[in-house]
Amino acid sequence: MNENAMTRQGIRIHAPEDFAGMHRAGALSALILDELGPMIRPGITTGEIDDYIRKRIEDEGATSATIGYRGHGGQIYNHASCISVNHVVCHGIPGDKMLKDGDILNVDVTVIVDGWYGDTSRMYVAGKAPIKARRLIQVTHDALMKGIEVVRPGATFGDIGHGIQTYAETQRMSVVRDFCGHGLGRVFHAPPNVLHYGRAGSGPVLEEGMFFTIEPMINLGRPETKTLADDWTAVTRDKSLSAQFEHSIGVTADGFEIFTLSPAGVFMPDLG
Ligand code: MF3
Ligand code: CO
Ligand code: CO
Repeated sequence: MNENAMTRQGIRIHAPEDFAGMHRAGALSALILDELGPMIRPGITTGEIDDYIRKRIEDEGATSATIGYRGHGGQIYNHASCISVNHVVCHGIPGDKMLKDGDILNVDVTVIVDGWYGDTSRMYVAGKAPIKARRLIQVTHDALMKGIEVVRPGATFGDIGHGIQTYAETQRMSVVRDFCGHGLGRVFHAPPNVLHYGRAGSGPVLEEGMFFTIEPMINLGRPETKTLADDWTAVTRDKSLSAQFEHSIGVTADGFEIFTLSPAGVFMPDLG
């Protein structure tokens, strides 16, 4: 990485031509999530979903950013996706778990295309989810969009968190504090930490050319999480349902560009 790269407040400022690279990576990650829709039904295992994702990334000549990824404790992740079912907040490990009617799940995929990272996740429903679960999914999606809508040069990262938190808490749901969004580009996780809660006007000022994710995790119950013995799986402490949506975005001269828009326009599951 070029040490003389332009940064502001420790955050990389990308050139106009870098948006095209992010667009290609983001589009592939979103396309793969689009393709999962029809296969997510009761009876499929999370491991089978991950196998499909791994193969699609390979077929496209891209690379999975999560296979071989090293966590903070040095633990290595060995899957092409994170699949977080029901009370799992994030970083659920795909495996033998079979989906049953009414399960809700987040699938999170990060691909590398020509060195650029595309990171996105969304919610799915196996069969028909209970009304509470469907409401959680809707509120979480809308909370992400509230965060994205404030993005423009001159706004702050605190404005993003404030928009998300205010909306989620108005709906009497809670924002997870233990995980955050992140800068990305030619790296997976870069400064800043993008908090999904906070005070308006606080934090670094957004500038054109900043690339980052917004990926709020919203719980029906309390916000606290704990990590299981596998060193990855994060669950709600109170076992309440959790949901998450994630987009990778860039700050433009007058607003934002979402790199991970669904090509088929199916970012939100059909909630009936
Ligand atoms: N894609 C996740 C994110 O949104 C990171 C997953 S890292 C893994 O940042 F190792 F758990 F896969
Ligand atoms: Co992310
Ligand atoms: Co992700």
